[in-house]
Amino acid sequence: MAIPRETVEQILQAAHIEEVVGEFVTLKKRGSNMWGNCPFHNEKTPSFSVNPARNIFKCFGCGKAGDSAKFLMEHEHFTYPEALRYLAKKYNIKIEEKEQTPEEIMQQSIREKMFNINEFADKFFVDTLWNTEEGKSIGLEYFRERGYNNPIIEKFHLGYSPSQWDAFTTYAKKNGYNDELLEQIGFSIKGNKGLYDRYHGRVMFPIHNLTGRVIGFGGRILKNDPEKKLAKYQNSPESEIYDKKQTLYGIYFAKNAIARQDECILVEGYFDVLRMHQIGIENVVASSGTSLTMEQIRLVKRYTKNITMLYDGDSAGIHAALRGTDMILGEGMNVRIVVLPPEHDPDTFGRDFSAEYVSNYLKDNAKDFIRFKTELLLKDAENDPIKRGQVIRDIVETISVIPDSIFRITYVKECSRLLDMPEQTLTNELNKILRAKMRKTLGIDDNVVSETETTTVTPKQEETVEDQLPAGYYQERELVKLLLMYGQEMIVDERIDEDGNSILEQASVAQFIVDDLKNDGFLFTNAVNKKIFDLFDQALDEGRIPDDQFFVSHEDETIAQLAADLLSSPYKLDQWEKHGIFVKREEDVLKATVLSSIYRYKDLIVEERRKAIEEELKATTDSDDQLILLKQKKDLDDIRKTINKELGIVIAK
Ligand code: CTP
Ligand code: MN
Repeated sequence: MAIPRETVEQILQAAHIEEVVGEFVTLKKRGSNMWGNCPFHNEKTPSFSVNPARNIFKCFGCGKAGDSAKFLMEHEHFTYPEALRYLAKKYNIKIEEKEQTPEEIMQQSIREKMFNINEFADKFFVDTLWNTEEGKSIGLEYFRERGYNNPIIEKFHLGYSPSQWDAFTTYAKKNGYNDELLEQIGFSIKGNKGLYDRYHGRVMFPIHNLTGRVIGFGGRILKNDPEKKLAKYQNSPESEIYDKKQTLYGIYFAKNAIARQDECILVEGYFDVLRMHQIGIENVVASSGTSLTMEQIRLVKRYTKNITMLYDGDSAGIHAALRGTDMILGEGMNVRIVVLPPEHDPDTFGRDFSAEYVSNYLKDNAKDFIRFKTELLLKDAENDPIKRGQVIRDIVETISVIPDSIFRITYVKECSRLLDMPEQTLTNELNKILRAKMRKTLGIDDNVVSETETTTVTPKQEETVEDQLPAGYYQERELVKLLLMYGQEMIVDERIDEDGNSILEQASVAQFIVDDLKNDGFLFTNAVNKKIFDLFDQALDEGRIPDDQFFVSHEDETIAQLAADLLSSPYKLDQWEKHGIFVKREEDVLKATVLSSIYRYKDLIVEERRKAIEEELKATTDSDDQLILLKQKKDLDDIRKTINKELGIVIAK
C-alpha cells in the first residue's frame, strides 16, 4: 500500500544516516565526516564516508552514494517501500496508509487475489507431489530420475499437477476462486467441456519475485514429445503480478549469493538453476528461454555489475549468448561467457561431473565477452577480407556501447592485438561511431543552423574519445552543485533601475541562478542537470526552494545519484584566496562564486557557438548567408565582451 508523501519525507528526515549505516558498518569520525570500510566492495583502507550534516553516504572507491533509504536498498536489497518501512519502525514513525481511490482498491484487490490464488496453488501442487500416489510415483519419480534430491525439490517448491484434466480447477472453485480469476491468471483454459487445467500432468515450478511471493508458474511435460505436438513447457500468461520481462527465474533464491560473490551466473532454463544450486553454486538465475531484457539486466545490476553467461556448447547456445550482451555492456556491466562442452547444458553438466569439476571449469573457461566475440567472428571470417572488415565494424560497434572510456580503450588495445590491426585504425572507427551516437542523442542534425543566435547551446564534437562530453558540461555541473549546496542561502543582488539608482535586493542563490540563466535563454544540455534545474524552476514558481534532502531522496535514480555525488565532495568557497583575491564576508564569497560560475558557463557556451559560426563561415560561399553569419558572430562577440567585463568586475571586487 502506498505511503503518503509527507510520511516519506518525515521518515527520511528522522533517519540519521550515521545511525542507519552504523548498524552495518563500523564508522570512525574523522573531520566532519565518518569513515568506514565500504560494505559494497572489498577494501582495506576506508573510502566509505558518511556525512551526517547532509544525511548521505558515499563511497569514494566504488561510487555508491545516497540517503538512508538508498543504503538499505543496496545493502539489504530492500525495495524502496521496504526500506521506508524499516526506517519508520526504527524511528517510531507511524505510517498512516493513504486513502485509496476506488480504482486503486480494485487494482490492489486484483493483485492481492492473484498472489493469494498463486499461494494456494503452490501449496496444492507441492502437496500433490509429496502426498498423493500419482504425485509420488510420477512427479517425484521424475525429479528423482533426473537426479534431484529432496532439499532442492523442497527449496524451490517444486510440485506436480494431476493428470486429471480439471483437478486443480475443480479444487480451486470449491475453495471459492471464480472462473474469471482462474482464467485470468492462467490456471484454467476454456475448452468445449468447460474449464480445464493448463498444467494437467506436468511437474510444476513456481516463479518467485524478489520478495519470495509466487507470481507465476512453469509446468514441464513429463515425456519428451517426439512429434512436438505438446509444448515442453507451459508458462503462466502475463498478469497484473507477472511481467515476464521483469522476471528472472530463481532471483529470490540467488540474490544474496549474487551480492556476496559479486557475480551473477545466467543460464537458460529452470533445471539449469536447480542443478547449479544442488551442486552448491547459488548465484544463478535463468532468463527462461527468452532473450534477455533491459529490465532483467537492471534487476541483476541491483546486486552486481558482473554477469557470467553459461550457455550450451551448441551453436544455438552460442548465438543465444551473443544476444543481449550489448545491452549488458551498455549498462556499464561486465560480461563473461562460459561455453560448455558440446551436448551439455548446465543441468546435464552438473549431473555428469563433480561439483568441484564444474566450479573449476567455470573459473578456467570464463572468457571476457569482447574477446569471445572477436575470436568467434574471426573464426567465421577466416581469410575473407570482406568478412573481416565486417567483423571489425561489428566488434567496434560492441565496444562503442561501453559507457566507460577507460574500458573502451583497454578493449581497443586488446582487439587490435587479436585482430592484428593497428590500434589507431580501430580508434578512428570507434570515434566515428561515438560521434554519430552523440549527435543522435543530442538531437543535432548536422545541416540545421538554429535561428536563435546567442541562446542556442551547440555542443561541439571533440576529436578524442575521452572528450565527447558536450561543451559546458563541467560548468553546468558546477552550477548544479551550487544550486544543491547553497540554493537556499541568501545573497544580495544589486540592480540598477531605469533612473540609474542602485537597488539592493535579497535573493536566494537558487532564484538568482535560475532567473539569470532563464532570462538569457541558457538551457542546460545534460539531461540530469536539466532535470534538476527544472525542479528548482518549478519549485521557485510555487514559492519553495527544495533542499538537498529532496534531491538525494528523489525517485528518479539519476537525480538522486548525481545529488549524492555532488553533495559528497566539499565545495571550496575559499578558493578565491588562492587567486590572490580576498573577500571579507562569507556572503560575498558565495555571491562572487555564483556570479563567476554563471559567467564562466555563459562564456564557454557563447565561445562554442562562435567557433561553430566561424566554421560555417569558412564553408559558405553564399554571400547572404555570410552576412547573416557575420552579424551573428558580431553579436556573440559583444556578448562575450559584456560577460568578460562582468566577470572582471566580480574578480576585481
Ligand atoms: N521454455 C519455455 N517453453 C518451451 C521451451 C522452453 O518456456 N516450450 C523455457 C523454459 O524456461 C526452459 C528454457 O526455456 O527452462 C530453456 O529451454 P530448454 O533448454 O529447451 O529446456 P531445459 O530447461 O533444458 O529443460 P529440459 O532439461 O527439461 O529439457
Ligand atoms: Mn536441460
